[in-house]
Amino acid sequence: MPEPVLDATVSHLRLEARIGGYEAADRNRDAIERVYDAAATLIGCRQEEIAVIENATRAWDMAFYSIPFEPGDRILTAMAEYASNYIAYLQVARKTGVNVEVVPNDEHGQISVEALRGMIDEDVRLISLTHVPTNGGLVNPAAAVGEVAREAGVLYLLDACQSVGQLPIDVEEIGCDMLSATGRKYLRGPRGTGFLYVRGEVLEDLEPPFLDLHAASWTARDRFEVRPDARRFENWETNYAGKVGLGVAVDYTLRWGVETIRVRVQYLAERLRARLNGIPDVTVRDLGAEQCGIVTFTVEGKPPQTVVRALSGQGINTSVSPPDSTLLDMESRDLEGLVRASVHYYNSEEEVETFCETLESVLSKA
Ligand SMILES: Cc1ncc(COP(=O)(O)O)c(C=O)c1O
Repeated sequence: MPEPVLDATVSHLRLEARIGGYEAADRNRDAIERVYDAAATLIGCRQEEIAVIENATRAWDMAFYSIPFEPGDRILTAMAEYASNYIAYLQVARKTGVNVEVVPNDEHGQISVEALRGMIDEDVRLISLTHVPTNGGLVNPAAAVGEVAREAGVLYLLDACQSVGQLPIDVEEIGCDMLSATGRKYLRGPRGTGFLYVRGEVLEDLEPPFLDLHAASWTARDRFEVRPDARRFENWETNYAGKVGLGVAVDYTLRWGVETIRVRVQYLAERLRARLNGIPDVTVRDLGAEQCGIVTFTVEGKPPQTVVRALSGQGINTSVSPPDSTLLDMESRDLEGLVRASVHYYNSEEEVETFCETLESVLSKA
């Protein structure tokens, strides 16, 4: 987290401790509300179309579980789909009799837009895509998918958890109806924060799976009314310090400029991939015609856990992408796990070099 994000988050917590939770929320109302405008500016929508939710997973869930599926409906998704999303498809398939179908990849390893177009018929209820998968640098062609969705008049849900903050996102250009994002990744916000975008035109048709006195009002003994805006997907009690922090994190991103961030991140990631490609026994695994700041690789004869542990011992944070986080993709590529090393704009060329030298050194010893 950048200092301003940390300061704003901690200051709000201190205010809560000093004057009380409700009182702090009243006093800091503008900073709390700022997150809606900031997120709307970031992705090119109206603030009424933003809900602030505790993470990207739950934001995505609130949209997905609101869709009134019927038996025989088809959900089209892609090979690099995230486990939590796919588990939700399977659960809904079991409960309602929808069919989950996976669009094949094209020659770049990204969703084939042509194949998607060929799969459209009147039973397709949802196209659901992960923009940047959890296990690699692939950037799925979200806008080309949006074109197909619009032509077909099909709902389009985009998991932008890993792209928001590192790639410019414009929901009009992409053509998605719903989009989920997290605070804790490329936005550099506090953990336990995220947001959901739902297009105004589809809001009315999506009744959230859970409602409370914030999402709806109790208008008579036997009646309630759901809020007209995207906050129908929120709930009443929430982490206000996190909301303040997320708003500051988005503003911080906006000040740098997302296009500037994209150029810097892609430059560093390309440099890292090029350097890793030259290390014996290391194979870079990122797919896609366009690639982003998430760099994944395997080392011949060394499980990813061993590599991550060795790097951690040298003060370098990487993580393991396990096969069951993106089962379809990992099985199709016969991968048992990946080392994931993500760069951000604050990384330097020297750090990329240090990373590779350290990797070479730990591999020569291990
Ligand atoms: C593609 C994708 N979607 C969703 C998530 C979940 O995000 P959160 O931790 O904010 O729920 C992740 C986290 O790794 C992810 O990679």
